[in-house]
Amino acid sequence: MASSSVSPGRLAPSYVQTPAAAFLSSLSVDRTLAPYDLAGSIAHAEMLGRTGIVTPGEADTLVRGLRTIGREVADGSFPWRPDLEDVHTNIEVRLTEVVGPVGGKLHTARSRNDQIALDERLYLRAAVAGVGARLLALEGALLARATEERATPMPGYTHLQRAQPGTLGHHLLAHFWRFDRDLDRLLATAARSSVSPLGAGALEGSTLPIDPAYVAARLGFERTFENSLDAVSDRDFLAELLFDLALLSVHASSFGEELVVFASREFGFLDRTSSLGSGSSAMPQKRNPDVAELVRGKAGRTIGDLVSLLTTLKGLPLAYDRDLQEDKSPVLDAVSTVELTVEALAGLAEKLRFDRSRLSAAAGDPEMLATDVAEHLVARGTPFREAHEAIAASLRSDGEPPGPDEVRRRLRALGPDLGPLTDPKAAVDRRTSPGSPGAGPIGHQLELARGRLRARTESLSSLAQAVESIDRLVREAPA
Ligand code: ARG
Repeated sequence: MASSSVSPGRLAPSYVQTPAAAFLSSLSVDRTLAPYDLAGSIAHAEMLGRTGIVTPGEADTLVRGLRTIGREVADGSFPWRPDLEDVHTNIEVRLTEVVGPVGGKLHTARSRNDQIALDERLYLRAAVAGVGARLLALEGALLARATEERATPMPGYTHLQRAQPGTLGHHLLAHFWRFDRDLDRLLATAARSSVSPLGAGALEGSTLPIDPAYVAARLGFERTFENSLDAVSDRDFLAELLFDLALLSVHASSFGEELVVFASREFGFLDRTSSLGSGSSAMPQKRNPDVAELVRGKAGRTIGDLVSLLTTLKGLPLAYDRDLQEDKSPVLDAVSTVELTVEALAGLAEKLRFDRSRLSAAAGDPEMLATDVAEHLVARGTPFREAHEAIAASLRSDGEPPGPDEVRRRLRALGPDLGPLTDPKAAVDRRTSPGSPGAGPIGHQLELARGRLRARTESLSSLAQAVESIDRLVREAPA
């Protein structure tokens, strides 16, 4: 098992010898996938031994060598060689250096085509676990703020115009549910992509008695592929991942935008101690909501990553085409971008504090009671359209808009018993319909959110276990 600096392995295999080596190389990008590549190779070597394609002793030597390489990759001593094109050939050549010529048996009944598809599926699982853990923290922080602010009055907006009375807690929970759907989508993507492509070979399978089901089970995949051509060319799972991440970024960007707006002096909804960013190099008085702004800005990048991958995939004939090598950059970029974004947003949400008096003052605007007055008139028999017209006419003014007292007076004049209705504090609690901000429904909503968070925690922990088992497969001490 001793490695030496001069061995037949130092020579690059002929298939990577080309004047275009620099252009064809993907090592700078795909070396990130080394742990997954090693795990796949270990499972494959075990399979070769179990099926008698290599002897059990040879399989054992291959697995030990791969684990040695795993340690080299982990401690940074692995001798990466750009002339060997990609992570796969780097590891295979190194294996021959470490274990001798038997290393040349590893690639039996396998191709880099099914190998890279496998690496990417293992990577996706880890990426979902990583982003998911951060989303969980974000959801937890939003839920904590929403619980504190469940009854804090806040205007509800449409078109960014004051519309109807609501609460800050209800508003924050709306963001919670968006992010929760993002997490749901990511978990579903991980479940759908739980297919092992190993055994598809280059494209048409193998003439050797391979056992793809063993490899799939060993790597924690739920199933094997149905069609070898599809197995090596399918990148749906990456497109789905990028869509999930792009939509998550879009959701984050709209939360970011609101925080930017709420932090402005004009709104003043955020407590000034909320840690939103940094100062200005030029204007000493300024604190800027940089974190929220950058969260908003990052969405452009992840949407670009999605478009990049779809553009690469468009029009490709079956089965493997070298274009597919371009799939990795956008995926790795989007995953690391979103991890950073969600982490920053979760940290921000932890520290968010609101100016309740500014929120209550804004929520006290009696114009937002107009729909409630209309519904009151409806309950007393007036057709809705008629009530709508009457209220609109009563609030109309040619010159200065009516002030709050005048609005209240005009609304009250529309009918008897309207007095209590124009109290903005009571307005939220009159909302009893399901999913509304009233005290009853919001209590129920908070309960649902807590339950959801518990379920997500469980799903993510079983995913994390699957990820951890891949690490263990590579790390395991030689038997
Ligand atoms: N670096 C390649 C990729 O990322 C690996 C597969 C190469 N296959 C081939 N037939 N050249 O797609």
